[in-house]
Amino acid sequence: MADNTEHPVYGSTSETAPTERQVPSKVTVPSLIARKGTAKKILCLTAYDYPTARLVDEAGFDLILVGDSMANVVLGHASTLKISLDQIISATRAVKRAADRPLVVADMPFGTYHVSPADTAMNALRLIREGGAQAVKLEGGEARAHLVRTLVDADIPVMGHIGLLPQSVNARGGYRIQGKTADGARQLLSDALALEEAGAFAIVLEGVPANVAERISKRLQVPTIGIGAGGGCDGQILVFHDVMGLSLGPAPKFVKRYANVAETMRKALGELVDDMRTGEFPAEEHTYPTHEELPDDWDYGI
Ligand code: KIV
Repeated sequence: MADNTEHPVYGSTSETAPTERQVPSKVTVPSLIARKGTAKKILCLTAYDYPTARLVDEAGFDLILVGDSMANVVLGHASTLKISLDQIISATRAVKRAADRPLVVADMPFGTYHVSPADTAMNALRLIREGGAQAVKLEGGEARAHLVRTLVDADIPVMGHIGLLPQSVNARGGYRIQGKTADGARQLLSDALALEEAGAFAIVLEGVPANVAERISKRLQVPTIGIGAGGGCDGQILVFHDVMGLSLGPAPKFVKRYANVAETMRKALGELVDDMRTGEFPAEEHTYPTHEELPDDWDYGI
């Protein structure tokens, strides 16, 4: 007899749940800009898949970045340079299925905006149309401002990103904190103002001395989002895996770890290995019963 009972397979993603969830008002680009000058910090975190995006949303974050840091923390690359547009689109789709309230921003991978303005716009449009992103982020200051303008003119909201630029690792010869000298700080301010002028709705300041980041934040009309830039920014962003203790190497200086998920998983996996070896798993409760007793000669003639 066919078994018509529905059994869940793998972990439930509660795809149908959004209708049941209490969704507070959705974060939008204008609502984020309106936070500037208020005491309400903009809370941002990366996510690259459905379950983590759900948890980040439930925790109350305002913005989820599908960052190219996925190359490092998920895909095991040594830098962010190797991730493709298709990989970010695929991750953004998963995040978008999970995220009800936060604004979902997709990173433009290396090479996708180091081309003509027309190609840059086509690549950004794929993140919006195929990935479902509500905005894109790209790295660079004055030199990229014309591209920001192109995208904003095409109704694609852009988040800028200046300071330590992981995609410029080869050009700069490493991951370097920026703005440590007065000249460096002035360059950062010029970069930030150029991006604001071009229409960026927010600007990530990465790896910048706290006093410089605070002064730049005061000069801008759009919010700044800091990572390794101190508490004077309008918001903060971190990489999910760093915060959760799921990135396997040492955490950067600016990261505060709130969990040690790698250790929890190590312990759980060790227990699973033991149980599979000894036969403790699966137990009776993990098995399906038949509807009737199988006779001893059940396989006679087959
Ligand atoms: O890719 C990323 O995660 C980022 C943030 C660290 C800002 O760009």
